[in-house]
Amino acid sequence: MKLLILSANGGIGNAVVGECLRRFPEATIIGTYRRSYSEVTHQNILWFRVNLSSEEEVEQLSKEVGNVDWIINCTGFLHGEHKGPEKNISSLSQEFFIENINRNTVPTLLLAKYFTKTLKQSSNPKVAVLSAKVGSIDDNQLGGWYSYRCAKAALNMLIKTISIEWHRVLPKATIVALHPGTTDTSLSKPFQANVPPEKLFSTEKVAFDLLNVIEATTAESSGEFYNYAGEKLPW
Ligand SMILES: NC(=O)c1ccc[n+]([C@@H]2O[C@H](COP(=O)([O-])OP(=O)(O)OC[C@H]3O[C@@H](n4cnc5c(N)ncnc54)[C@H](OP(=O)(O)O)[C@@H]3O)[C@@H](O)[C@H]2O)c1
Repeated sequence: MKLLILSANGGIGNAVVGECLRRFPEATIIGTYRRSYSEVTHQNILWFRVNLSSEEEVEQLSKEVGNVDWIINCTGFLHGEHKGPEKNISSLSQEFFIENINRNTVPTLLLAKYFTKTLKQSSNPKVAVLSAKVGSIDDNQLGGWYSYRCAKAALNMLIKTISIEWHRVLPKATIVALHPGTTDTSLSKPFQANVPPEKLFSTEKVAFDLLNVIEATTAESSGEFYNYAGEKLPW
């Protein structure tokens, strides 16, 4: 089995690599990073540096990596050094909105474009993408966070739409959106103050739970949105 784990240097991505090494000792793991190299070294892991918002770089990655069985995309963006999620519409900046789309939505779009062909060679192709419950339109009770919500909602629509196309052209394949729950990483750090300790998950727990969900998915689950406990979320 060959697994491609995108943004394997991130908080959740790094733990997903560790969990995959434990569960699938025979698997070859391709891990990607953008800025900083991950500390994980292992004979079964190959590392590639890639900016997943660049079409050229994702196409090049697909050529270098070849066939894969599972793709787990742990890429995402919530806040930069100088700007975080918006409390109201007047704090929205077009540049920050586009950055959210480029880093939360575009990577999966490009991966689907360049890896559909190679996934056809697998007997059990699966794609799992880290989304977020705040991208659920039905579940939106609080408002705010315009750029991140919209980018994850667009990601969710993309996953649903790919699942419909793959139902025709790649009937064995599964593609799902996953919500990890609030996880202790640099992405959630500035927003952890009001999270009760029992609701702030470690990356190791989340990786374990997400792998359980991914393993349990079948082609019938394709086009669904699940949380870490395997419960279906509304789009
Ligand atoms: N943590 C939470 O509470 C939480 C809750 C709900 C959903 N999620 C979702 O879970 C996923 C993982 O989040 P995390 O908590 O592990 O965050 P994280 O530690 O900040 O990791 C995010 C990863 O995305 C990478 N990335 C961002 N833009 C990229 C790009 N254009 N090309 C390549 N890599 C890029 C980052 O690489 P660089 O560092 O090199 O930029 C980093 O490895 C995200 O999709 C996030 O939205 C997280």
